[in-house]
Amino acid sequence: MSHPGPTSPSPLVRDARPADRQVIVAHNLALARETESKELDPCVLTLGVERALDEPDRLRYWVAEVDGRVVGQSAVSREWSDWRCGWIWWFQSVYVVPEARGLGVFRALHRHIRDVARSSTEVIGLRLYVERENHRAQSTYRALGMQPGGYLVYEEFWPDRGGPPRA
Ligand SMILES: CC(C)(COP(=O)(O)OP(=O)(O)OC[C@H]1O[C@@H](n2cnc3c(N)ncnc32)[C@H](O)[C@@H]1OP(=O)(O)O)[C@@H](O)C(=O)NCCC(=O)NCCS
Repeated sequence: MSHPGPTSPSPLVRDARPADRQVIVAHNLALARETESKELDPCVLTLGVERALDEPDRLRYWVAEVDGRVVGQSAVSREWSDWRCGWIWWFQSVYVVPEARGLGVFRALHRHIRDVARSSTEVIGLRLYVERENHRAQSTYRALGMQPGGYLVYEEFWPDRGGPPRA
């Protein structure tokens, strides 16, 4: 992997703001296309992003900037673990623009979010789900010290509430 050199400054990671709405929407559209060949409904997605930006307890976004341009993002939702009596932070909406990949942008996002999580004694760990075929993302997560959790994800979505039609 290449690393940031003198011409590629380290990414600045910060909490997302309402003004990042458009770029976050664009990244999510690109993420769904690239990893799941899905075309998201931009109106529904925009509303979903807005509601999260308004109320980060639903979903909290961070963005990574290089030279003032947002080139990457990740969000976190929370799961309460009764077994371990603590919060698990789930990474969601992980995306780095193609031209900024391999430069440590997600490494910076992961480190920052992990530091924020570690600063709260109630957070006990990090989790995420990833498509079976997404080997690049899996290599990235392993490189950052995460291990496969050994679970399968089961789901039930309802078409009358925006879920996909049954196959
Ligand atoms: C997966 C993704 C977020 C990685 O972001 P990135 O900024 O390119 O990753 P980084 O440059 O920070 O890489 C971190 C580490 O992951 C590993 N890594 C990254 N890309 C890799 C690749 N293509 N192959 C193997 N390992 C890779 C490297 O070990 C790297 O560490 P190093 O640079 O010290 O060697 C990015 O490729 C992406 O947005 N992909 C499309 C969307 C996606 O798949 N999202 C995840 C959905 S679950």
